[in-house]
This record gives sequence, C-alpha cells and structure tokens, in this order.
Amino acid sequence: MSIELAARIPAQRVSDWVRACPKAELHVHIEGTLEPELIFKLAGRNRVTLPYASAEALRQAYAFTDLQSFLDIYYAGASVLITEEDFFDMAWAYLSKLHQQGAVRCELFFDPQTHTERGVPVSVVMAGLTAAVQRAQTEWGMSVALILCFLRHLSEDEAQTVFTQALPFRDQFIGVGLDSSERGHPPSKFERVFARARAEGLHIVAHAGEEGPPDYIWQALRLLKAERIDHGVQAVQDPELMRHLAEHQIPLTVCPTSNIKLCVFDTLRDHNLKVLLDAGICATVNSDDPAYFGGDLMDNYLLPMQALQLTPQHLHTLAANSLRASFAPPALVQQWLTQLDDCTRAFASA
Ligand code: ADE
Ligand code: ZN
Repeated sequence: MSIELAARIPAQRVSDWVRACPKAELHVHIEGTLEPELIFKLAGRNRVTLPYASAEALRQAYAFTDLQSFLDIYYAGASVLITEEDFFDMAWAYLSKLHQQGAVRCELFFDPQTHTERGVPVSVVMAGLTAAVQRAQTEWGMSVALILCFLRHLSEDEAQTVFTQALPFRDQFIGVGLDSSERGHPPSKFERVFARARAEGLHIVAHAGEEGPPDYIWQALRLLKAERIDHGVQAVQDPELMRHLAEHQIPLTVCPTSNIKLCVFDTLRDHNLKVLLDAGICATVNSDDPAYFGGDLMDNYLLPMQALQLTPQHLHTLAANSLRASFAPPALVQQWLTQLDDCTRAFASA
C-alpha cells in the first residue's frame, strides 16, 4: 500500500510530492477567489466606484475578527461582477492557479443571490462560469463542477426564488449548498428548498459547524440530508457526532487557513484537523476564499503539516479523502486514486 510508502518521502521533497499528487478542491467560493488586482480591473471596466484607493489599500483592509467581518468586505468585492466575461475571467484565473497545484477536480461554489440582488441575472452568472468550467476540461482535462449556494442570512422564500431562476440551467450545476452568516441561521430554516433540490436529483452540501454549534451539523445531516459538511470543525464538541461522522464516512471539507483568518482557532497549532483525521473522519483540506485569506490549496496541506506535525501518511490520506469525497463519477475517482498511489510510490523510491 502506498500510504505506508508515504513515510519514506524525504522532507525536502514533500512540497513537490504534494503538488504532483492528484487531488480535489471541494470547498472554494468562486467570489472568494477574486484578487484585489482583478477587483480593480473589473471596477475600471464596469465603471464601478470602490471605497479604496488601490488594490494594495483594499488588501490592507483584510483584517478579519470573525465570519461576519469578512462577509461584509467579500460581498462588497463581488459588486464589480457584472458581465458574462467578468464571471469567466474570475473563474478562469482561479482554475489556472489550481491546475498548477495538481488539482484534477474542483467543485466550485457560487452565490447567485449576491448577483441577482444587484440586477445581474442568473443566466449571465451561469454563462460565464460554465465557459470557464468547459475550457478547463478541454485545455487540461481538469474535471470541474459547480455547486449553487443559498445565502442563509436571507429568507427561505428568497432561496426558493433564486432556485426557480436557476432551474433552466439545471444541467450546469451538480448540487446545492448553504453559506454566509451561520450564527442565528440554522439549516432548519431551509428544509423545503433543500427538499426541492433533492427532488431535482442534485447533490447536497451545507456549511455547518464553522462558528455554529454541533447541532447545526446534525440539522444539516438530518433535515437537509447533506452528503458532505463544509467546515464541520465544531463537531469535536460532540463525541456522538464524531462517532457518527466516522462511522458513516461523511466528509468534512475543512479549511485550515480560513479558520485562522476568521479566528475560529487562534493559531494553526490549535487547529483540530489532526484530531479529526485520527478519529477516522474523512476530512479534506480546502482553501475557502483564497484571495481573502492568502492560503492556496497547497498551503492548506503544507502549513497544517508543519504546525500540527502531520506525517506524509496524513497528507496522502487528505488527498485520497478529497478524491473519495468528490461527486465525480466513481470510475474517474478510482483512476485518480490509482494515480495517487503511483505518485506516492514514485516519490518514495526516487
Ligand atoms: N462564504 C464565503 N466564505 C464563507 C465562509 N467561510 N463561511 C460561510 N460563508 C462563506
Ligand atoms: Zn466556505
């Protein structure tokens, strides 16, 4: 088994090995990949005025105290997205970076309500994002899929409205999720719209247990029938939930650098990623909003490795978990897992 071979990878080759490993990113908000330079370029193109003098001044404002303090600035940044070309440019810029980090699969979140609220139709959002998804497939053979997220600080009626608007594009996204301000907005608020999404055959994910209590994770599983939990790090407060996640291999899409920037943990040394892995939970690592948090997918493997003394076997498990937890066709997942084994074997024996 190549997982044991991972132990033989020399420390100075770990970074190259992680880059070469096939892996999936399962938790990244496309609006959270918008770099300040691109925000300014799109603002100029669309004649949108920003309350910052330059990209550098905007970046200086990225000092967050919690999830809400980040979301306020994140929604302001997304206000420069108006045309199909803007959505294409944003997604293409991110997928290009991700391709260089060895990702073979990406499941991209998008927040249509952030745009429909400003008068940008769902059709424009879908056209731009889908063009980038298809180009990544044809140019690099990268497998990319879209997941539509409902904003939980808005009402369920508003989620129903945007879902109705998105249904003509049903074949362009594979699932629905739930994001934005968690506290005070439990999954139970969205039971009916998620039932509708399930009836459409869509995959179900939900942010839960980022800042919110373990009960929100239970609700996401029991009421929304979530197949994966985004974040989920608060599960450690509930031993029964930890056992349930491990027993049913319900994946968690953990975002270590995000959790530090949003003060979920004080430092990476305090993060519970290793606790989750050692409990047998199918944890994965992801970048969440890399333009705002400054950590790309590779960083989310390598920085916790240093801080938590993760072994190369842990990293191999994280990459394998990301592939198994993806919604890609099972035959493709199997092919990637074989490639991952081959990659680890090659680096261990070189
Ligand atoms: N939207 C973008 N990033 C998010 C996060 N970390 N939590 C909730 N909603 C988000
Ligand atoms: Zn997120």
